[in-house]
Amino acid sequence: MNEQLPCRTALITGASSGLGRGLARWFATRGVQVFAAARREQQLEELAKECREAGGKLEPMRLDVSDSDDTIRRIRELDERVGGLDLVIANAGVGADTPAKRLEWEDVKRIIDVNVTGAAATLCAVLPRMVERDRGHLVGISSLAAYRGLPGSGAYSASKAFLYIFLEGLRVDLQRTHIKVTSIHPGFVKSEMTARNKFPMPFLLETDDAVERMARAIVRGDSEFAFPWQTSSLMKFAKVLPNGAWNMVARRMMR
Ligand SMILES: NC(=O)c1ccc[n+]([C@@H]2O[C@H](COP(=O)([O-])OP(=O)(O)OC[C@H]3O[C@@H](n4cnc5c(N)ncnc54)[C@H](OP(=O)(O)O)[C@@H]3O)[C@@H](O)[C@H]2O)c1
Repeated sequence: MNEQLPCRTALITGASSGLGRGLARWFATRGVQVFAAARREQQLEELAKECREAGGKLEPMRLDVSDSDDTIRRIRELDERVGGLDLVIANAGVGADTPAKRLEWEDVKRIIDVNVTGAAATLCAVLPRMVERDRGHLVGISSLAAYRGLPGSGAYSASKAFLYIFLEGLRVDLQRTHIKVTSIHPGFVKSEMTARNKFPMPFLLETDDAVERMARAIVRGDSEFAFPWQTSSLMKFAKVLPNGAWNMVARRMMR
């Protein structure tokens, strides 16, 4: 075990940019052996070099999580090789507009393939061995969008709600074990994903700020961590609104 952190090895998907990259660097520079997975190898190599220069240990892993069979096989091989991954963060994700009146199946499918199938495969790959060992920590990067179907983003909201509820179900089942389960719900954070957004993003956070908050929540072993408080309070309130009231709020958001 690492002196400062309760984990020795970590796998983080979607580590070539944004929040995943930041989390990979955060853990690698604090003595954790990080396996950084994504499709873009060059970005991962650059991150590995950056971590090496900062005294950290990070190994790039080319992985397309939408290929669930390959994801399960490769993660299980890695888990075997390192004698059990302590921390697994299912962070890889994609976003796309999916407005009901101009809905494209390809956009919906891509979101399901990465955010739902990819995230579930990542977690399912390691869970049986974690149960055998009775230790480990599963983390999923969901979103505040999971709390309600957002206008123009039904597929994205639904994909993040899947991850949220899947993790909650796992947490309930694993109550009497030493396996921790954390779902993280960021608001708007600067990244390649949000750089494409054409709408206003209230309380937009810097990537490093969000990474620091997320990493601390993971280390604390929070069951659910939603931030920043301004947007998370609004979305938690929206979660309990009746459908008619939410329709009105969503109409205002669309304007
Ligand atoms: N930024 C926000 O405001 C925000 C808010 C709430 C939740 N989130 C969630 O946070 C996570 C990270 O997003 P981000 O904002 O940091 O966006 P980002 O910079 O676009 O990062 C997305 C990451 O996912 C990886 N990825 C995409 N498709 C993949 C695939 N098929 N296989 C493996 N990796 C794949 C990308 O790597 P490659 O392209 O190299 O494969 C990239 O590293 C996502 O799950 C997102 O939904 C973000």
